[in-house]
Amino acid sequence: MSSDRPAPGASPRWIRWPDGRPRIGFGGDYTPEQWPREVWKEDVRLMQEAGVNLVNVAIFGWSLIEPADGVYDFATFDEVLDLLHTAGIAVDLATATASPPAWLVTAHPEILPVGRTGTVLGFGGRQSWCPSSPVYREHAVRLTEKVAEHYAGHPALALWHVSNELGCHNALCYCDVSAAAFRRWLERRYGDIDSLNEAWGTQFWSQRYTSFEQIMPPRLAPSFTNPTQQLDFARFSSAELQAQLVAERDVLRRITPDVPVTTNFMVMNGIRDMDYAAWAREVDLVSNDHYLREGDPEPQIELAFSADLTRGLAGGRPWMLMEQSTSAVNWGHVNRPKAPGELRRNSLAQVARGADAISYFQWRQSRAGAEKYHSAMVPHAGADSRVFREVAGLGADLERLEPLVGTTVSSDVAVLFDWDSWWASELDSHPSQDFRYREVALDWYSTLWRRGIAVDVVPASTPLDGYRLVVVPALYLVTDAVADSIDAYVRRGGTVLVTYFSGIVDEHDHVRTGGYPGAFRDLLGIRVEEFAPLRAAETAGLSDGTEASRWSEDVVAVSAEPVLTYTTGTYAAQPAVTRRTVESGVAWYTSTALGDGSREAIVDRLVADAGVTPVASADRGLELMRRTGPQGSFLFAVNHSGEPLTLEVTGHSLLTDQPVGPRATVAPGDVLVIRESA
Ligand code: GLA
Ligand code: GLA
Repeated sequence: MSSDRPAPGASPRWIRWPDGRPRIGFGGDYTPEQWPREVWKEDVRLMQEAGVNLVNVAIFGWSLIEPADGVYDFATFDEVLDLLHTAGIAVDLATATASPPAWLVTAHPEILPVGRTGTVLGFGGRQSWCPSSPVYREHAVRLTEKVAEHYAGHPALALWHVSNELGCHNALCYCDVSAAAFRRWLERRYGDIDSLNEAWGTQFWSQRYTSFEQIMPPRLAPSFTNPTQQLDFARFSSAELQAQLVAERDVLRRITPDVPVTTNFMVMNGIRDMDYAAWAREVDLVSNDHYLREGDPEPQIELAFSADLTRGLAGGRPWMLMEQSTSAVNWGHVNRPKAPGELRRNSLAQVARGADAISYFQWRQSRAGAEKYHSAMVPHAGADSRVFREVAGLGADLERLEPLVGTTVSSDVAVLFDWDSWWASELDSHPSQDFRYREVALDWYSTLWRRGIAVDVVPASTPLDGYRLVVVPALYLVTDAVADSIDAYVRRGGTVLVTYFSGIVDEHDHVRTGGYPGAFRDLLGIRVEEFAPLRAAETAGLSDGTEASRWSEDVVAVSAEPVLTYTTGTYAAQPAVTRRTVESGVAWYTSTALGDGSREAIVDRLVADAGVTPVASADRGLELMRRTGPQGSFLFAVNHSGEPLTLEVTGHSLLTDQPVGPRATVAPGDVLVIRESA
């Protein structure tokens, strides 16, 4: 299934373990530059005690490595890398370009990023650079070259870490340098100004351009700025950062062709500026940072969604969880520690979903700086602490899981995910400002998660034939090619569920007219004339007795069968959910956000239509996932509840080294990993 599908262009390379022995990577960001030498010795001893085998070094190392323009000093990191290597700990070494030093910003203040209102974002935080700045690019590439030349052949070097969380703070820059780069990007995209005028619909509001030189980034304007201008600026901004990734990567590949290259993506709630479907093709291995959503009552579901999307970006192959927190973060409003056992469940759930390396921000909690209240593997309290004991416990667990290294997850269900749709669907001047793209995907994902069904979250352009069921959440912007691929998939026997606000516009954000959802109208056998989004507390009654929320539409079933109808409001008696058999496949549509119970009943019918079964027969609430490979089949069961939960499985528990079956009990908060009997 999906795991056999190679990611386009990506090479299947993995962490180069110095001794060649495959293992699950375990460690964190290591910042010895913040500590005196005596502490380094203790660090290494504690790393060994905790089973750490890989640390991420020099991420914010620029000002130390290059203290003045063109002057290099590697002494600190030389000593650190040697020390780590002697202790058998491998290094994921950063290019150190994430944050430019004060001397560079002082000499070239034009590299500072500028916000939408024209405000220059000053030095003193991090990532103080404009993604289009040639001055920054030149200095960063030169530093990458020096670092690569210096550490080429170092026995500890197992992986390259380009920059750090590219675009975390500086993704959208509106300065004059960005404006000029945006114009060049648009010229390459459209060729001539008339094509741009057509794509941007500039007959509207007298926006016609006669030259590319007149074009600006979508800076704060007296009213809504042109939506296609905003969309293209989002595409451009992602592409500029991707070009930075590629520039550093190319240097690394030239100097150390044997060392794989990664950069940490941020597939998590709240970050949407980087089109990782495009970026994933540029790296040797996909790695991700994941932090839990503040106040989420079931953060394990969003974690699973992000992990399944990361695996989707990796083309189904193993990936690395680069960063997460052991306990509290410091950047939320009120930052609460994780509960006992939560760091273990979070990490093992990532392994269940295909991660072969688990790492944290950061190894030792800082004493100074803006992240001193962010948890770490070694907290302020020291090694005599619950967190460190849990970290060491996890290290031991990961060692016990070594038999499954390299195995992959396979799934019969795909949820499509698309950055263009995300950007375009959340633009201003829309039917509702409350619309949230990721929320629509998570709704359906969470129901599948609760049913114990394995899901791949994949880019919309992914070939669909290996899947039995495809969920298309709010695919607002859709190209003809993607619409055709979904249509053909259904006709060949696939089952699809399309949600509201899908198929509405083409790649230029122009509406597909003749009735919504333009691109999928015929496939779904429906026609919609008007959207009627619901206000925050408003609901719409449905014929199954449940209440729907967020959205409604005046659906007319042309050739589809109504499954649920509205019972209240203007659209009472009109269809809310429809189903249509199309040749040998089935196409479902939902025009509203169903409540949990209703969604669950629809999922029952969807999986029946598609012939999809849960990962295992188990009590509700147990998180289930299976990894398989030549070495066998490994079933994960994570119990996030306060009650013991059971499942049917026979085999051997890797974490407790005991036979299990035919029924196993997972204690409250515990995790089972079972090598299944053949
Ligand atoms: C990001 C960064 C780290 C650190 C953590 C804190 O993931 O990459 O340097 O700031 O956030 O959560
Ligand atoms: C005003 C303007 C119109 C249009 C409408 C939309 O009346 O004059 O051009 O923007 O608002 O409500």
